[in-house]
Amino acid sequence: MWIRPRRNRSRPALRRLVRETRLGADDLVLPLFVQEGEDLETPIPSLPGHGRLSIDRAVARAREAAELDLPGVALFPVVPEAEKDPRGSAAAKPDGLLQRCVRALKQTLPDLLVITDVALDPYSSDGHDGVLRDGRIDNDETLPLLAAMAVSQAEAGADVVAPSDMMDGRVGAIREALDGSGFVDVAIGSYCTKYASAFYGPFRDALDSAPRSGDKKTYQMDPANAREALRELALDEAEGADWVMVKPGLVYADVIRLVREHTALPVAAYHVSGEYAMLRAAAEKGWLDYDACLLESLLSLRRAGADLIFSYGALDAARLLRAGRGGD
Ligand code: PBG
Repeated sequence: MWIRPRRNRSRPALRRLVRETRLGADDLVLPLFVQEGEDLETPIPSLPGHGRLSIDRAVARAREAAELDLPGVALFPVVPEAEKDPRGSAAAKPDGLLQRCVRALKQTLPDLLVITDVALDPYSSDGHDGVLRDGRIDNDETLPLLAAMAVSQAEAGADVVAPSDMMDGRVGAIREALDGSGFVDVAIGSYCTKYASAFYGPFRDALDSAPRSGDKKTYQMDPANAREALRELALDEAEGADWVMVKPGLVYADVIRLVREHTALPVAAYHVSGEYAMLRAAAEKGWLDYDACLLESLLSLRRAGADLIFSYGALDAARLLRAGRGGD
């Protein structure tokens, strides 16, 4: 027995030297939920540690993120029911809640990336990412609305617009609209392979954005399919995406690996609301160590091939990493 893999594990410094994957604050993006009001944080019961934040509170939370060296935050607006309509018209309002929040963030923390979500669901009275016509999502009628939404976010100062709607052709439509309005430097972080997942539950609680009828299976991908991710990837590359995301993350690690092996673009993973809530719930019961399981989950996404990760645990992870956790 002269070959002993344990030898490389036998001392902390040696483990450090042969470690294949690293997790750092540089890899993490913190999602934030924004609502109207002042000095408000309304807890989201299914997403412990996160609340719906008024703009001033969102800026304060973003400052914490910047101080912990997180490169960016991703914003999701809570839209009052009275402002929702079938075409999500409020999405492109220059003085909308999201647009005001982007401006406030760029004014106070100009170097922190602001990533905005492009999809109609928070603004739609139907709770769908596209326009519903006779019970069906009309792909091509939705594209110009998404393009206008992205331009409006860019006008407010967004650094990256992130289409999460899964309409065909939306990356190209958004790129053309951004370039046509002079926003050639605004990047598109495409939710390239986004699955029709049950793990988005707490997110939909946060925004009250669950579909009012039907489900999202005609546009989000079938959880049974991996190969199909390569079709979405090819299209997003051809249409000009600057990064491609796999979502959810943990339960789609095989898809992260597949996409990683077929593209030179940065690959993002979304450690989604349900994946985070599971950890919190188990920790609340005393069944799991939240800190250790969070770091292991995020590291596993990096090992699967993700360059960057959206996670509700980003602040916690950055704090733990700063305190020296995450290695041995
Ligand atoms: C909106 C959107 C969703 C998520 C991100 N953007 C929800 C959905 O598609 O229903 C989910 C994120 C999460 O669960 O953390 N299109």
